[in-house]
Amino acid sequence: MNGLDRLPASDPTALLRPRDGVYAIDLLTAAVVEFRLFDALAERPGTLAEICTRFGWDERPADVLLTLCLALGLLDRDEAGVHRPSTLAREHLGKGSPWDLTPYYASLRDRPVVQDFVKVLRTGRPAHWAGLDEASDDWHGSMASEDFARTFTAAMDCRGVYLGKCLAEAVAEVLAGSKRLLDVGGGSGVYACALAANAPAIDAIVLEQAPVDAIARESIARRGLDGRVRVESGDMFRDPWPEGCDLHLFSNVMHDWGEREILELLRRSRESLASGGRVLVHEAFLDPDKRGPRPVAEYSCILAHSTQGRCYAWTEMEGFLATSGFRSLGYRPTGGDRGVVVAELQI
Ligand SMILES: C[S@@+](CC[C@H](N)C(=O)[O-])C[C@H]1O[C@@H](n2cnc3c(N)ncnc32)[C@H](O)[C@@H]1O
Repeated sequence: MNGLDRLPASDPTALLRPRDGVYAIDLLTAAVVEFRLFDALAERPGTLAEICTRFGWDERPADVLLTLCLALGLLDRDEAGVHRPSTLAREHLGKGSPWDLTPYYASLRDRPVVQDFVKVLRTGRPAHWAGLDEASDDWHGSMASEDFARTFTAAMDCRGVYLGKCLAEAVAEVLAGSKRLLDVGGGSGVYACALAANAPAIDAIVLEQAPVDAIARESIARRGLDGRVRVESGDMFRDPWPEGCDLHLFSNVMHDWGEREILELLRRSRESLASGGRVLVHEAFLDPDKRGPRPVAEYSCILAHSTQGRCYAWTEMEGFLATSGFRSLGYRPTGGDRGVVVAELQI
């Protein structure tokens, strides 16, 4: 069944990581060259809030930057949340050090994404997707264009064949106890197809907006699963969600948004989920201390750049779920640096 019901002989993580982390170098370059972050923190260490005030930064991208620097071993953070440059940063990115590599990074200063990050840090607003012109909207606006939506959905779809099978294996017992899945913002429907392919008793609905809804219909039919997986067109923030599903999947959806939108999606989930229903939040999660894992800290940079979100710690996601009336059943790693938080509706 097109690879959805088996794992390949080799693990694609070595290919996912460089693609996922492609913007990390640009964010680090902005911090080193445009803001001299490590010299400033050597002079006066600071908490996230103090650093935001000092540099005039928005908290969301600043949080992503500090996590990146912690994951790269460039910063240390004490129990009070105060950040200091590590020996590595002081020796190799510090003014006056004989080993200072700042000019090595300064030679990358004109990369467009470096300059985007200067603006993202200052405003908190996502930049346009690299390669699209300045006049275009952010990533969400770009998804209204048929060409961009096709290219982007194909990108999400191809990695989902492997990641979807990993997810299905990680939640096998949840699938065994479920009948109808709602895949919210399901893209091509590859995860709905993967879960259906691995759990014969499940049928699924993919909730997607135009033009991705039509792309999903084509893709599901191509996989031969259109008898069990259907697409409902709609805006997940505005339109009613299908009732009667006992399993809701958010795959790579929450990391596109801030807390307000995440809580709204979970509120809608709670309102429409069948009683005793469960939710799966599948994406790349940070460790609870937000010092890594390094591949996720690097991946968070592209999200900070192009969306309203970032990578969350799985404990942060558990907090959003608890606020919204769900009890976490725990976090499980899946594959390719991704994982899933499983939760159930509290009675
Ligand atoms: C990063 S993609 C993830 C797609 C898929 N779930 C996956 O894991 O590959 C986010 C998806 O959310 C969809 N989306 C964004 N805003 C939406 C909205 N308001 N209503 C429905 N879908 C939306 C996008 O069209 C896109 O397919």
